Amino acid sequence: MSSLNTILFGLSFENPLLLASGVNDKVPEQWIRAHKEGAGGVVTKSIGIEPRKGYGNPTVVELPYGLINAMGLPNPGWKGFLEMVEGYAFDFPLIVSIFGGSPGEFAFLAEKLSGVADAFELNLSCPHAKGYGMEIGQRPENVYEVVKAVKDVTGKPVIAKLTPNTNDIAKLGLAAEKAGANAVSAINTLKAIAIDVYARMPILSNKIGGYSGPGIKPIALRAVYDLARALDIPVIGVGGITTWQDAVEFLLAGASALQIGTAVSLRGWRVFREISEGIKRYLEEEGFLSVGEIVGLALG
Ligand code: SIN
Repeated sequence: MSSLNTILFGLSFENPLLLASGVNDKVPEQWIRAHKEGAGGVVTKSIGIEPRKGYGNPTVVELPYGLINAMGLPNPGWKGFLEMVEGYAFDFPLIVSIFGGSPGEFAFLAEKLSGVADAFELNLSCPHAKGYGMEIGQRPENVYEVVKAVKDVTGKPVIAKLTPNTNDIAKLGLAAEKAGANAVSAINTLKAIAIDVYARMPILSNKIGGYSGPGIKPIALRAVYDLARALDIPVIGVGGITTWQDAVEFLLAGASALQIGTAVSLRGWRVFREISEGIKRYLEEEGFLSVGEIVGLALG
């Protein structure tokens, strides 16, 4: 009997599929729903120091092969987040995504949220928020400083979420690893725009957004492949995973776990069950006993 159980940085996940930080993970009800539908764990929407309302509508555009979003990092701030999760006992690993404008802000958030997070994912990659995300995370020295600052204040595992908007994602991953990151996740969205031909202006209120979904899958897969070849720490694959075949490709390219976000918007919560059943079938048909056995087999 093949097993999907996945152990990552000391945490046990029922399977390697996690809800990605993105457009479907603002509140506990969505995290619980994702787990009920078959996600092995959850990454929250990114939390900052102060509450943010986010950008005005429209914040999401649907394209034939994915979505462009610019939500503007809406979140209740760390105090509001603690109030929101009070009274909940989650029976799955809760990875809290955090964003800040400096290493000190990331460290502050990690300190404040260590009591409720099973792990942290550092948003070093949002492609459009002024002063945050990839404006920091495109430089390896900044990635190093942020990861180091967070590792210095928390014993919880730390994942650096990397940007594809760079000419060498492996350099960013190596900086995260050197600073003590327990894993990296790749990729966040690609900087993108959509234009309304009749209004003759960008559709999103923020004009620029981040492209996600099936259209970016080959780029995400290549990023995971590059990172898995360069790093010793686990790589978590994210970007356009929509079918079980996509998921298996990412595992073969070296991902130890996978995140799913846009596919939930495009196909519904059932994607978690469909993809994990597909992976299990593949393992059984191909004679593998565990998901770990296929990680990195295509690295050569
Ligand atoms: C957003 O909230 O606008 C997206 C966040 C991200 O891309 O990291």
